Amino acid sequence: MNLSLKGKRILLGITGSIAAYKAPFLVREFIKQGAEVRVIMTESASKFVTELTLQNVSKNDVVTDMFDKTLQENGSWHIHLAHWCDCFVIAPCSANSLAKIAHGFADNALMALVLALPKEKPLYIFPAMDTDMWLHKVTQKNCNTIVMHGGAIFPPDSGELASGMVGEGRLPEPSDIVSKITDDLLSRKSLKSFLKGKKVLITAGPTYERLDAVRFIGNFSSGKMGFALAEEALNSGAEVTLITGPVHIDTIIGVHRIDVQSAEEMFEQVCNNFSHYDLAIFSAAVADYTPKNPLEEKMKKENTGEELTITLKKNPDILAWAGKTKSEHQRIIGFALETDNEIEEGKAKMKRKNCDMIIINKANAPNSGFGGDINTITIMAKDGEYKHYQPLTKKECAKEIITKAIQLF
Ligand code: CTP
Repeated sequence: MNLSLKGKRILLGITGSIAAYKAPFLVREFIKQGAEVRVIMTESASKFVTELTLQNVSKNDVVTDMFDKTLQENGSWHIHLAHWCDCFVIAPCSANSLAKIAHGFADNALMALVLALPKEKPLYIFPAMDTDMWLHKVTQKNCNTIVMHGGAIFPPDSGELASGMVGEGRLPEPSDIVSKITDDLLSRKSLKSFLKGKKVLITAGPTYERLDAVRFIGNFSSGKMGFALAEEALNSGAEVTLITGPVHIDTIIGVHRIDVQSAEEMFEQVCNNFSHYDLAIFSAAVADYTPKNPLEEKMKKENTGEELTITLKKNPDILAWAGKTKSEHQRIIGFALETDNEIEEGKAKMKRKNCDMIIINKANAPNSGFGGDINTITIMAKDGEYKHYQPLTKKECAKEIITKAIQLF
């Protein structure tokens, strides 16, 4: 027998969707694969499937009421259960529950558990609802928010729905849910220790080049790609330093963060640190030029007139410096943001800057480049072999990049 989930402890959350009738089959499927399952249901879920059925198939008590006296463990039952599990699966997840998860509600047992789940434990969400509800902008925005906070959303299948209509919204079959979770848990396990003992340096975000006391030249980089890379490297066991330009992203617990403003400051920090690192990933959008004579005071219009000419001087190219300086044990990865002819440009840039790998993304394409949560990347190896990816969240891109980076060692 193939026991792909042997010994895994699965918390299964069930919410109020008609697809909840599949939940007992899902529990059986998990158990067949060797897992232990504890079920948490919302009150609406219990209108579609009974607590007794789930208690019987899971061979464990089912939680529905967070104030249930038999459950309390001094009021910390949710903390204990969240720490007990290896992963938290919510299937089916209704539109209402998605909205609550996205906004941090804790008004029922299931929501309290989502908030109590430790950061390193995966949250797998399988939405199931009517097509229009699924495609509604608010639902999609809620999904993005959940993904940005580390949850994994598995989009519903297409097919016939309870309403009789045909479209996206069906809960995948229990065996598909189990194999998706198994794949993810296995890839996490195999990635987990691959960068153990390795030191990883990452640059992220924009740089601000000072013009005068109140103005700068900058760009639209959000830093999301670099932060996602830092998190993924950390999850793969590395010791991570993140040198970031000005961004609005919280510090990742466990990552050593160094904040800088200008390209010159970023360069100085990279120079100070570089030789200690095994891998450096340069995802920052560094300004190529900086004002030659920034003013200490605020520039006044009456002194500049109808036209203003600013002289810029070249900034150090940090990646090119690292490419020249690196020693034999070190690997470096660059980014190339291109508008045209990206494969040839990327290849040339990789060679020019002596990178071991380059990540190419298009500047003028939808779902790519600065700002958003999605990126469309091509990963190119040193020998010029490359792979295009479909648009992925920046977290997913980071996973692909770190998986490839591991192979450099
Ligand atoms: N980079 C850097 N320091 C700079 C400029 C760029 O470290 N002063 C790094 C970026 O972090 C990225 C890579 O170099 O990893 C590519 O940067 P990009 O600006 O796209 O390439 P350039 O070499 O500046 O070439 P061009 O602007 O002509 O495309």
